[in-house]
Amino acid sequence: MRTVNRVVIPAAGWGTRFLPATKAVPKEMLPLVDQPIIHYGVEEASASGIGQVIIVTSQGKEAMEDYFLPDPELEAFLKARGKASLLATIRDLSSNIQVTYIIQEEQLGLGHAILIAEKAVGPEPFAVLLPDDVIQSQRPVLAQMIDLFQEHGASILAVERVSRERVSGYGIIDAEEISPGFYRVRGLVEKPRPQDAPSDLGIVGRYILTPRIFDALRHTEPGALGEIQVTDGIARLLESEPVYAYQFQGVRHDAGTPLGLIKASISIALSRDDLAPGLRTYLSNLPEVRGPR
Ligand code: UTP
Repeated sequence: MRTVNRVVIPAAGWGTRFLPATKAVPKEMLPLVDQPIIHYGVEEASASGIGQVIIVTSQGKEAMEDYFLPDPELEAFLKARGKASLLATIRDLSSNIQVTYIIQEEQLGLGHAILIAEKAVGPEPFAVLLPDDVIQSQRPVLAQMIDLFQEHGASILAVERVSRERVSGYGIIDAEEISPGFYRVRGLVEKPRPQDAPSDLGIVGRYILTPRIFDALRHTEPGALGEIQVTDGIARLLESEPVYAYQFQGVRHDAGTPLGLIKASISIALSRDDLAPGLRTYLSNLPEVRGPR
């Protein structure tokens, strides 16, 4: 059975929900504790056995490219100061995984971002990871999904249950459960009204896709805002081959909004021995701050 060795990370969006910060700093480079958001996604891919990362980026986001390059001067400095553990962290960043970049000239949607990665991906199954969705789990979510891909040999979408009021923020699947937490997809609806949603299972930012998705996306009409939606592409793929959905094991944070990033920061800090005690003390004695921010 073919395995999955490449991941596409779409990271070309404007990040408007983080303006004005994202005027100068790419959203993916905002710190989540002490790593930029995108680092968590690359780490998850690497820990899932994926060897090649293809980042879809846009003009003005060069900081992301710099981040994954070796930095001999910084390494020499850390070595001279005896900072072995930091040195190892910095070296790991550029040695474990091969990162390449594709520029998306115009932000024509997530489906378009995936489509322009076709040449870099080749005729192989591949993963897509949206960096805003940071997932804490025992076993990396992409690894959980690759296991399932090896069993079923078809596209798999990560889903989670969302409350009725929130379905209009997600792509929602219509599906039949074939084993606990594993579904065969019958259809998909992008951002339905609560009364029109076929289920409460929302698609989140992890996908394993077969290369047929590229043809499907090529034939997908742009939506109202001129964007090619990945959900529409998957609906088209479904006409020619089965697609599955998987309720992953783990806790997802939406680090793509200020409140989500704060929650993710607290949750990750609380999972770290070096930060948890101090943060717990702070949270339990939280001072009330009044007045202008
Ligand atoms: P989002 O819409 O959630 O992110 O796209 P955004 O556009 O960066 O942020 P907001 O909505 O303006 O605050 C989901 C993912 O798809 C990528 C984004 O970078 C993000 O990782 N994307 C979206 C692209 O790469 N290209 C696009 O044309 C659209």
